[in-house]
Amino acid sequence: MLKFFDSHAHLDDEKFDVDRKKVISEIENSDIACFVTAGYSLEASKKAVKIANQYNFIYATCGISPNDIPQDEENLWKEILEIESIVKSNKDSKKIVAIGEIGLDYYWEKDPKARANQQYWFRRQMNLAREKKLPIVIHSRDAAKDTLDIAKEEKLSEIGGVVHCFSYSVEMAREYLNMGMYLGIGGVLTYKNARVLKEVVDYAPMDRLVLETDSPYLTPVPNRGKRNSSQNLPYVVMAIAEIKGITTKEVEDITWENAVKMYHCLRKYYGHSY
Ligand code: NI
Repeated sequence: MLKFFDSHAHLDDEKFDVDRKKVISEIENSDIACFVTAGYSLEASKKAVKIANQYNFIYATCGISPNDIPQDEENLWKEILEIESIVKSNKDSKKIVAIGEIGLDYYWEKDPKARANQQYWFRRQMNLAREKKLPIVIHSRDAAKDTLDIAKEEKLSEIGGVVHCFSYSVEMAREYLNMGMYLGIGGVLTYKNARVLKEVVDYAPMDRLVLETDSPYLTPVPNRGKRNSSQNLPYVVMAIAEIKGITTKEVEDITWENAVKMYHCLRKYYGHSY
């Protein structure tokens, strides 16, 4: 029986270089049934697609995250054009299920010019998603207002997708839910200081939450500090079940359905009629 859908992880990460095959086979033999490995740079996107092409139950996203935008513009154009051609040539295998991670990250970037650059490439990749009829995976950190403004201007509601590792307030959650977006919930929910995220999970309808690990990062309690893997998803499921007052089985089932709906290109693999 299919159980967990890890909607966001980084199997390409160098922390998995020593034992990637073993990690993937552990996932394959566990209750984690489906898996999306997220790109964040040209390099990572290529690796994600390569891994996805090797395993039935693994899919990929492609995109350049705000933290991985190359400094010189010529390189950036080259990279974005290559990502576009990877996505466009994917139409037969359908293993690329979203454009992402894309967005804004002002935590690491203080320079206004560089921030404006992030905004430009965020919009540009949203348009690629619109053109390819793919959802997007948003990475947004310390950039709530600008991300929301761009989301509205670019009519995110027509594109869809997930705000990955959601870290904003209930008011912000309401805005994204109104646009039809899903909220990605992971290990952070188990942290002591996660008061705001707990409020968000309490507020959001259950049919708009998806599970994610962001592994190898953001390991949930009680394994915090160790390398994260999808095997830790049950801790996130338990935390959601407790807040929502429902069973862990219900959380597994509903988040599974949500992820399949969100990455709508998975439809044909699972025969759902969404
Ligand atoms: Ni990520």
